[in-house]
Amino acid sequence: MSRKKITVIGAGNVGATTAQRLVEKELGNVVLVDILQDMPQGKALDILESGPVYSYDSEIIGTNGYEETKDSDIAIITSGVARKPGMSRDDLLKINTGIVKGVAENIAKSSPNAILIVVSNPLDAMTYVAHKVSRFPKHRIMGMAGVLDAARFSTFLAMELKVSVENIQAFVLGGHGDTMVPSTRYTTVAGVPVEELLPKERLNAIVKRTRDGGAEIVSLLKTGSAFYAPSAAVVEMVEAILKDKKKIVPCAALCEGEYNIDGLFVGVPVKLGAKGIEQIFEIALNDEESAALKRSADAVKVLCEQVDTLL
Ligand code: NAI
Ligand code: 2OP
Repeated sequence: MSRKKITVIGAGNVGATTAQRLVEKELGNVVLVDILQDMPQGKALDILESGPVYSYDSEIIGTNGYEETKDSDIAIITSGVARKPGMSRDDLLKINTGIVKGVAENIAKSSPNAILIVVSNPLDAMTYVAHKVSRFPKHRIMGMAGVLDAARFSTFLAMELKVSVENIQAFVLGGHGDTMVPSTRYTTVAGVPVEELLPKERLNAIVKRTRDGGAEIVSLLKTGSAFYAPSAAVVEMVEAILKDKKKIVPCAALCEGEYNIDGLFVGVPVKLGAKGIEQIFEIALNDEESAALKRSADAVKVLCEQVDTLL
């Protein structure tokens, strides 16, 4: 069986770490693309040379063009500007719209049948840009954020309860921004609702830390934003698709009526398998959760309206 081909656009912190994780797991051969001369080639060679030590045979090359990316099975867009302290994800809108537009045009030409995973921020709006430009069907285009936000939520709950992270099933809905909706009602610990295990004020504090999780890392790093957990989250999505796992994870998916959201990419639980997004699950929300999701979708809509003026 020949190996799958995975293109990662943007060889910065998220892109290079994603590429490294992909070949270490032997999920496919990787093409790493960046506009910076020689940089993706250098990082790719360095990762390739780790193969004998780490015992992987997946290949990886770096490039500044799209020739080598031709007919990729999966393309991951991480190109763009990352947050600096004091910047919100939305500050990145204008510059990253231009970058994601150009990249999505190239991918649509070189890999018309690929499944596209967008990582660049502001996430939900950049997934909208990539969809508008590529015109890929909605099951083949998605944004990564919910897996990361849920991983942060799980981390903080495991720290608080002093249990294994593997026991936590965290549930997050909504856009990847300050309005994201971590749900304590649907989050469980070894099957037990977390609301039965922690008092409301502790849960509220953990929800707040989850919402601010990206900013917490930015303020510590000072020169950029998170990349270890984000790349791990992307790889979980790639693995679910390439292994046709039918895994239920939160992704930014194009909602067309689900959750009363229409024409926007917003984080919702989806089934990931070989076809990409194989199903969106609509779960029952109470009034408070519905209102929070609506606020989040409204915030995404404002950004998409700005995007429409830029495209
Ligand atoms: P970075 O600055 O380390 O890397 C970005 C790379 O993109 C740079 O190497 C740059 O040269 C490259 N680039 C710029 N324009 C390009 C183009 N037209 N074609 C190809 N490459 C291009 O940034 P980092 O930390 O890797 O973050 C990348 C993006 O991902 C940012 O927008 C960041 O906000 C976002 N992000 C999103 C997360 C999420 O949960 N969705 C999590 C973490 C980061
Ligand atoms: C994060 O949540 C910056 O969106 C990125 O870390």
